[in-house]
Amino acid sequence: MAASTHENNRRILVTNALPYANGPIHIGHLLGYIQADIWVRFQRLYGNECHFVCADDAHGTPIMLKAQQLGIAPEDMIADMNAAHQRDFADFSVSFDNYYSTHSPENQELANLIYTRLREAGHIHTRTIEQLFDPEKEMFLPDRFVKGECPDCGAEDQYGDNCDVCGATYSPVDLKNPRSAVSGAVPELRESEHYFFDLPAFGDMLKAWTRSGSLQSEMANKLSEWFEQGLQQWDISRDKPYFGFEIPDAPGKYFYVWLDAPIGYMSSFKNYCDKRDDLNFGDFWDKDSNAEVYHFIGKDIIYFHSLFWPAMLSGADFRQPTSVWAHGFITVNGTKMSKSKGTFIMARTYLEHLDPEYLRYYFAAKLSSRIDDLDLNLTDFAQRVNSDLVGKVVNIASRCAGFISKKFDGMLSDRIDDPAMLADFQAAAKDIAQAYETREFSRAMREIMKLADRANEYIAVKEPWQLAKQEGKTQEVQDVCSMGIHLFRLLMIYLTPVVPKLANDSQAFLNDTFTWESAQTTLTGHKINKFKALMQRVPTEKIESMLEASKENNTAATSKPVSSSKTDIEPIAAEIEFDDFANVDLRVAKIVNAEHVEGADKLIKLTLDIGSEQRQVFAGLKSAYKPEDLIGQLTVMVANLKPRKMRFGMSEGMVLAAGPGGKEIYILNPHDGAQPGQRVM
Ligand code: MSP
Ligand code: ZN
Repeated sequence: MAASTHENNRRILVTNALPYANGPIHIGHLLGYIQADIWVRFQRLYGNECHFVCADDAHGTPIMLKAQQLGIAPEDMIADMNAAHQRDFADFSVSFDNYYSTHSPENQELANLIYTRLREAGHIHTRTIEQLFDPEKEMFLPDRFVKGECPDCGAEDQYGDNCDVCGATYSPVDLKNPRSAVSGAVPELRESEHYFFDLPAFGDMLKAWTRSGSLQSEMANKLSEWFEQGLQQWDISRDKPYFGFEIPDAPGKYFYVWLDAPIGYMSSFKNYCDKRDDLNFGDFWDKDSNAEVYHFIGKDIIYFHSLFWPAMLSGADFRQPTSVWAHGFITVNGTKMSKSKGTFIMARTYLEHLDPEYLRYYFAAKLSSRIDDLDLNLTDFAQRVNSDLVGKVVNIASRCAGFISKKFDGMLSDRIDDPAMLADFQAAAKDIAQAYETREFSRAMREIMKLADRANEYIAVKEPWQLAKQEGKTQEVQDVCSMGIHLFRLLMIYLTPVVPKLANDSQAFLNDTFTWESAQTTLTGHKINKFKALMQRVPTEKIESMLEASKENNTAATSKPVSSSKTDIEPIAAEIEFDDFANVDLRVAKIVNAEHVEGADKLIKLTLDIGSEQRQVFAGLKSAYKPEDLIGQLTVMVANLKPRKMRFGMSEGMVLAAGPGGKEIYILNPHDGAQPGQRVM
């Protein structure tokens, strides 16, 4: 083994922002979790002590209301969501040591402790404020739960904090004709006493922290802008009803979700320490701690993490984070993730179609330490994964392994065919480690792929498959193929943080255990196992089916058989906004003609009269109705569905029907007397 200059005695705690407990994980979320996981896996491989904790962010008004709508206790909803989140993370190989919830006894205890310390140090003030109140729901309304007309441009149906049409920002009390988005009631202005955290008192402390940590330059710039604008008092209380922790000695007042959310980092770690004898909470969080603490977050929550959080910790006598590292947002095919385009892809939907290691590699290949947005271009994605991972890396092993197992009983040569090249590959460990350490993952991937190109060139020049045909070249075949395997092994060691499953399979094949240091050793005279295909090319048709499955209208009632058996009722689809429903224009339609479609086994061609016009619709009703029986019936159609070109002609809408399928499909019949064209509400 080469002499080591390897320093690996750091103690590190890493967190990633806690996902809200009111929705599933989507590929946008995954960027941060995968980024943090790659960094953590690198630290562990390198030999540092690195703990990685997370939790669900379980409190707040949206979560409370969502549980009410579902008609279940918030505790039950967040428990289900927590389990679903953990499954998604595990399947993407996000290697949390502990995954907890902010709705936990540890979190309540720590939130109370931090709050009490802040109050005792004089950092909490109360003030009466006016806020919009929903008299029907009997609750104060967060900005996002008030809708009305924009005070600037008059656009209708805008949220209480900003206008989607003209971009104006304002207070909800400025909205014209405001309505509660919860009940539709006209909100009233009411007074209430609120608790405030004295952020301005921490200006100097925050400036010092900004300079001491390893903050990104973009973040440091943002912070100086905020310092210039002046820091504001932060409202940390909410009135009941609220799903969260009641403030000690303040009945009916709750901690605002963003107060106890980051404390969730500490409480998840506390919960983890309590399960392990060898870990001490204070070693990581006490003021004099010499451990490192890093928070990975998205760019939308920088304010909370770079101002409120370090200030709260400081005011409560805990250490500050070593750094907070923000990443940009995911776009798909160049635009914001969109439900109608099918690019709002849930983690689970991705997993049903594609290998998670593809996405991990693609993110790594595009991530830097900057806060830039990252585009997931699906064509580029397939091409990059195929050309790099499959074409360059795995290919080396598959070209060499066969000879080693068939001709040499799995034994690698005692000799190294090209020592200079091997030394170059080993020396690269330093730069690649540096790139991982500084979160320049795309640079690390570029360096690894440059090495992979060299390895492929080496094999192309040596042509072991030609040597194998020649007499007296047996030793050379073994030497060349062994050299190929050594190079493949080094590439896989370097890629381990990014593609852990591929790395595991490679270790099984190589009969080896990887550490970062082990790149400095070589498996000469070592027996390897039989090679099995390590990774498939990206199946492009699966990308298509993933997008199709992510399309919002895919859950519409008639787009697929409702259920395969009479007894099981399909679960209710994801909740939609009132606006989504209001956008569907349902009309009474009279079936004025119906006929068989030549060559179609399910479809009937309908001519529908909706008063103002006639429409042609192809409907999958053939198993249940004879065309002649349909003529003259009234039904309900979606009149504003975008016309769709089908094999047999244009379909200009959709009729509503229910039933499990086969003979049991029932079109909806409004009462006699309904008039074609009438709107259905
Ligand atoms: N619950 C808060 C965080 C509390 S941390 C004490 C929250 N939750 S979230 O579910 O909305 O977001 C979780 C993480 O995912 C955040 O870091 C957020 O920035 C990130 N992302 C959410 N959508 C994203 C993209 N489209 N792209 C990249 N990251 C995104 O915020
Ligand atoms: Zn406006």
